[in-house]
Amino acid sequence: MIAKPQRQNLIGNHLCRFFLVALFVTMLMTDANSDEPVVAIDVAKTSSCGCCLAWIDHLKENSFSVTSKNMTMGNLTQFKLKNGIGPKTASCHTARIENYTIEGHVPAREIRRLLTERPDAIGLSVPGMPLGSPGMDFGDDREAFDVLLIRHDGSTETFASYPGSK
Ligand code: CU
Ligand code: CU
Repeated sequence: MIAKPQRQNLIGNHLCRFFLVALFVTMLMTDANSDEPVVAIDVAKTSSCGCCLAWIDHLKENSFSVTSKNMTMGNLTQFKLKNGIGPKTASCHTARIENYTIEGHVPAREIRRLLTERPDAIGLSVPGMPLGSPGMDFGDDREAFDVLLIRHDGSTETFASYPGSK
């Protein structure tokens, strides 16, 4: 008499397991970097800048959760100054992650390193817009560039160096 419900339970369990396996496989396929924690970053930029969007894509590919807002050039400059970025460290976009400022085309791996090491600093910058930095793709060509750590007194030191392609 109880055979029927048991059998239904069995089928139910199997369906449930199948669903979980399918879900797990889908998750693995959608999130290639699932071992890395997702971190939220907020990007300020102007509407006319295409390389800012390309940099945002680079962050998303590296499991960052990105929000962004467009500003006028004047407001963006004010935003940079307010967040510790002067003419010497300035680039196109300015991002905030936790209490750090990220200026320009900084590679995602250096942002993760910053969050791991947590130096007492304003943040990171790749001044200007070096060709070949993330979001500034230019075929196989790459200019050498440094990622700078900006201290609270405005001084900078080299956080990472990326060699050029030739
Ligand atoms: Cu740019
Ligand atoms: Cu930009």
